[in-house]
Amino acid sequence: MCYTDDMSETLLRDLPLEKGAPVSNLVKLQNFELKNNKSGGKQFLIFEARDKSATVPCKKWDSSPQELERFSKLSVAFLTGKVDLYKDTVSIVADTIAAPEEEVVESFLKEHEVLNEAAASPLPMPTKIEHLKDIPHEKDVPVEVVVRISNLEYKTTKKDGTGCKPYLMFSLSDKETDFRWCKKWDSSQDEFEALKKVKVVSVRGKSDIHNNTLGIVAEVITPVSPEDEARLLKELVPSSNYDILTMKKGIWNLIQKMENPWIKKLCEAFLKDPVIKEKFHLVPGARGMHHAFSGGLMEHVYRLMLLANDFVDSYNNHSWPGNKVIVDKDAVLAMVFFHDLYKVQEYTESGEYAVEGNKLGHISRCIMEIGSKTAQIDGFPADIKELIVHGVSSHHGQLEWGSPDTPACPEALICHYLDNLSSKLDPTIAALNKVMENRWTEKPVKTLNKPAFLGNCRIKDRTPGETQ
Ligand SMILES: [Fe+2]
Ligand SMILES: [Fe+2]
Repeated sequence: MCYTDDMSETLLRDLPLEKGAPVSNLVKLQNFELKNNKSGGKQFLIFEARDKSATVPCKKWDSSPQELERFSKLSVAFLTGKVDLYKDTVSIVADTIAAPEEEVVESFLKEHEVLNEAAASPLPMPTKIEHLKDIPHEKDVPVEVVVRISNLEYKTTKKDGTGCKPYLMFSLSDKETDFRWCKKWDSSQDEFEALKKVKVVSVRGKSDIHNNTLGIVAEVITPVSPEDEARLLKELVPSSNYDILTMKKGIWNLIQKMENPWIKKLCEAFLKDPVIKEKFHLVPGARGMHHAFSGGLMEHVYRLMLLANDFVDSYNNHSWPGNKVIVDKDAVLAMVFFHDLYKVQEYTESGEYAVEGNKLGHISRCIMEIGSKTAQIDGFPADIKELIVHGVSSHHGQLEWGSPDTPACPEALICHYLDNLSSKLDPTIAALNKVMENRWTEKPVKTLNKPAFLGNCRIKDRTPGETQ
């Protein structure tokens, strides 16, 4: 190994605080100790590297009493190795320790003779960014996060002088934030295949900005152990703010108040269905657009049932002179209860598309289930069955939005418009809960396709004029 001028100029305090970053410094060595590893088979050295800027603990694996004797005699040495960040300490894992020329030793000692107080303290650990929301809107911020990985794609760069290079594109997310734009250069088909099988990974890399969107360029992606994955997945999936039991009781109470015994029985049959029981409270209401969190489906349905209950009462109570039509509240409640229920088979708990959903979407599946459940209720009236099926099959409102039918009766119209309103208003209000001082949401609200502003809404528990 040869000495370069760069080495004399590199100070320990300027080491890149990234695990695995290369070290190549001229340092003073001190406090050597030879230790045995736990099994007693191998020996390693611990010592300190020091210059006028900092003191850094070091380790050298596979050492020996001979190395201890040789290195202990060196007051100054060229040290190469890698930065390690372990248990809140910045350290160096040494690869080589070599003696410099006599004049290099002399000039180093002269320059670093006065080892000031700062030099005696260890290097501070880099600020650990644990959540995606804490990554500043800047390029090149070192990042090491445990996150969910999804939308993984294997791509190749356009052919240039060095040919096509494979890289990965993917989304990373945690409980609060979703980074849709992430990359890893220098990948391989093998890495792609391995990462396709996992949902939670540790990612080390740097922040990057593309089209004003913050993302991560990963250097290393390591899957977490299978034992940790299930636990971490629960921690990393955003979930409803509602208490699940409160929502379940609320839905149950609204069904118990129904006056139409057939509709009531049908709703109870759905509540008792093992598939619904297992997943209704876990899956999201949609993928990304609205209620896109664990428990989001139950929250969406529960809120719609509350709204439908109040709306139909209000509509019937404020009828106009001469009107003889009374809207059937039980039918509307059943329609909103059923409309998205079979998203339990379209989505997984973590918001991915489930395999079953490819065969039958939530509308087709629900129509089929209404058919089989009404067949098990002796004497179930065909007109009520068709009315509920009509509400479910037309709830998207337009054929191009995936509805086999469009609403053609008051109950189905109410179901469609309340569903549409809730899917836009709830995510807008949720985003406005986080508004900054300018009273606008930071990012576009997906269902509006543009940012939203507070209007004349007030924020509870804030003094007038204060929006934070
Ligand atoms: Fe739907
Ligand atoms: Fe819906």
